[in-house]
Amino acid sequence: MSTAVRRFGAAHEVVEVEAAGMPRPGTGEVVVRMDLSAVNPSDLVTIAGAYRTRTPLPFRPGYEGVGTVVAVGPGVEDLRPGSRVLPIGTPGSWATHKVAEARWCFPVSDDIAREQAATMYVNPCTAWLMLHDRAAIRPGMRVIVSAAASEIGVMLVRMLNRAGLAPVVTVRRPDSAARLAGLAIERVLVGTPADFAPDLADVVRQGGADLVLDAVGGEVGLALSTVVRPGGQFIHYGLLSGVPLPPETWQRAPGIHFEMFWLRNWIHRQPRAEIEALLRRVEALIRSGTVASQIDSVFPLDEIGAALARVGSARRRGKVLLQP
Ligand SMILES: NC(=O)c1ccc[n+]([C@@H]2O[C@H](COP(=O)([O-])OP(=O)(O)OC[C@H]3O[C@@H](n4cnc5c(N)ncnc54)[C@H](OP(=O)(O)O)[C@@H]3O)[C@@H](O)[C@H]2O)c1
Repeated sequence: MSTAVRRFGAAHEVVEVEAAGMPRPGTGEVVVRMDLSAVNPSDLVTIAGAYRTRTPLPFRPGYEGVGTVVAVGPGVEDLRPGSRVLPIGTPGSWATHKVAEARWCFPVSDDIAREQAATMYVNPCTAWLMLHDRAAIRPGMRVIVSAAASEIGVMLVRMLNRAGLAPVVTVRRPDSAARLAGLAIERVLVGTPADFAPDLADVVRQGGADLVLDAVGGEVGLALSTVVRPGGQFIHYGLLSGVPLPPETWQRAPGIHFEMFWLRNWIHRQPRAEIEALLRRVEALIRSGTVASQIDSVFPLDEIGAALARVGSARRRGKVLLQP
């Protein structure tokens, strides 16, 4: 069984389930029987057509999941049937079997629970890279995390806490803040910039922010950019609001270092050893609970319509997974 996207649109309307036989691996390829796959916001925006210039139709969706190698093509030396792997770098994880280049399959340690293995790539790797590769967090920094109740937002807050930092965070709704219970937070800004303007004014009075990690864009991203101190950093990595950052975000603050971070771009520029090293770090952080994902629900692949509806539900708490 597999899934396919033949036209761009809302995922619950355009993702089709179809019968698929056992594929054969070509040279340098393996077939991975998917054990568990994740649904991420990046899947939904790709299916909606946000990257249509580099996403020819039809395509097989799903960027993240864990599985087991069941067939090995000619020229593959490092993997054998039975190897537990993350097949990353290409979509196609919402399927019983995924054909992947062996060089894009990364081993997963046996002690990592399958729900955590299925979600250890997109969010944990992005969180680690933003804090330790793109920014260099250090004691005393003031960091702002937007949409902090999102899965990656909670991971960022936990990682900052481990480094001794209590960030300022934003959440969209008061009850979302419950996700952050028990974490060290300087202050929680709830709602829109109009609601939390006095808090931002306080941040400025106290010297401003050294680093903003923004996954919302639009007016929230713009407002947060105004409190970054000269020489500070603003990393934009998501568009939960659906509204791009207005150009004045970076035009009116020449002393601030702006950048966009996309995991996809990072991994395609790295040697394999760097990606492996990152995944071993993430495994250690999963074992300590720092980047463990909260799992909302697991749906059989043939109920993908219900799974995608659940992703859009306000009652969802954590990741929706697909059991192929
Ligand atoms: N650039 C990269 O490489 C990269 C990698 C990983 C993730 N990301 C991005 O990170 C973001 C979060 O991903 P995730 O997997 O953690 O998502 P998630 O857990 O599914 O996100 C759900 C959360 O987002 C919040 N949210 C939704 N729309 C919002 C809005 N308009 N304003 C503020 N908050 C909003 C929700 O708030 P409520 O609780 O109020 O509903 C909820 O807390 C996504 O944009 C994703 O694309 C980017």
